[in-house]
Amino acid sequence: MRNRSVTFIFGSLVLWGLITYFMISDQPVEKEKDTARVSGQISKLERRVKQEIALNQELLQDIKEDKQRKKDVDTINANAEQKQENARDVNQNKILPEKEEKDIEKNDDKNVQQPPVEPAHTSETSHNVPTKGKLPNGSPIIAVLVFSCNRITVQRCLDQLIKYRPDAEQFPIVVSEDCQHRQTADVIAKYGNQIMHIQQPDQSDIEVPPKEKKFKGYFKIARHYGWALNHMFFQLGYETVIIVEDDLDIAPDFFEYFLGTYPLLASDDSLWCVSAWNDNGKAGLVDESAAHVLYRTDFFPGLGWMLTRELWTELSPKWPKSYWDDWIRQPEQRRNRACIRPEISRTRTFGKTGVSNGMFYERHLKYIKLNTQFVHFTKMNLTYLLKDNYDINFVNEVYQSTVVSFSELKTGKVVASGAVRIPYYSRQAYKNTAKQFGLMDDFRSGVPRTGYRGVVTFFYKGRRVHLAPSPNWNGYDITWS
Ligand SMILES: *[C@@H]1O[C@H](CO)[C@@H](O)[C@H](O)[C@H]1NC(C)=O
Repeated sequence: MRNRSVTFIFGSLVLWGLITYFMISDQPVEKEKDTARVSGQISKLERRVKQEIALNQELLQDIKEDKQRKKDVDTINANAEQKQENARDVNQNKILPEKEEKDIEKNDDKNVQQPPVEPAHTSETSHNVPTKGKLPNGSPIIAVLVFSCNRITVQRCLDQLIKYRPDAEQFPIVVSEDCQHRQTADVIAKYGNQIMHIQQPDQSDIEVPPKEKKFKGYFKIARHYGWALNHMFFQLGYETVIIVEDDLDIAPDFFEYFLGTYPLLASDDSLWCVSAWNDNGKAGLVDESAAHVLYRTDFFPGLGWMLTRELWTELSPKWPKSYWDDWIRQPEQRRNRACIRPEISRTRTFGKTGVSNGMFYERHLKYIKLNTQFVHFTKMNLTYLLKDNYDINFVNEVYQSTVVSFSELKTGKVVASGAVRIPYYSRQAYKNTAKQFGLMDDFRSGVPRTGYRGVVTFFYKGRRVHLAPSPNWNGYDITWS
């Protein structure tokens, strides 16, 4: 096993070397045709290398797990029993499993989230211990993690989750509470065994650089996220988690949406999340007759999103101390991966007294349309969202559409039917046009909200509009942020 993986690593390195050589030596290709052909080949090679790297990581992971399993083979059964007991204890909100207490001590020392040590007994490949990945019928178990702090309105969110949840076994709800706010804890406790209630144990003060004092809330949020996600994946053993915050309304087909898109997330390595949120999903900017339509986006939307243990295993060791959402949008974390997002949001935020909201809520968030029409996603063929299918169709649709201007659209002067395109060639041009339509005009790590391959797609006066960069677009420019 180890030899094989070493061979793979060596192979990848050689391949990389070849590609780099290839790119450097072939750079000044003059004819456009050649450029297209060469870049096609390069991206093919790049994909192969990526696949090999992914394979290597899997193999290495296997090796690690094997070792760990051998070491722990005697204690596995004991661990399993211990784990069940711990789960019960946590459920009753009393004792925390031993390992966490150790983690917390470490955290106190360094004031950062420590990389998790994945216990052998949660390993996917272990046959001795039940995992929380699938129901007996093979359908995925998708846990819902609700983040709560000091807002008793978490009740509004929990009521909706419980009301729309089709199956409590398939969608266990775990409420993670930070802040030790008595009234909020009381509200959560009322749900009894309909939910699992856990509490972030580290209430120590966080040292914040003086300049960032007023952003302390963001440091607490990042700490809470890091702890709770470690707990969900590595203590409770879930394999898929939907993250919800305590100020979200959800749509009736919220669970159906995530269950229907789960196979995409599980099978397409170029996807790293499914989000319920359309950043430009205001009434007037969405097609209200297209509740079934979904998109890929390079912009990480958050606000009701699903991730896998695989992703968390990757992010957890480097989880930041604050501003996790902008951090996760950086190229080092995103690594060119996309999320699925809906035409019409399946979540909407009702809280305007959050850490960040305020003005943002008044100006934008409160106009987001929440879907009301139940779409049977699990019965739909969603393979059009897989990268290989999607990109070809998307690029064709965008760049074959008629070019128009904002004023032509606004005054209804466009005669051609179907989708249209408004080109932009600079950051400022993008922002100006976005403002005219009432779209979000900001960039994060160079990516505009809902952007895919630089294209922001929305709905305006009965037609699909693509705000699109040049057809030769070749990546986001992080200086546009
Ligand atoms: C799903 O749609 C794709 C086209 O996007 C088609 O090739 C495939 O056969 C369909 N699958 C099923 C099960 O209908």
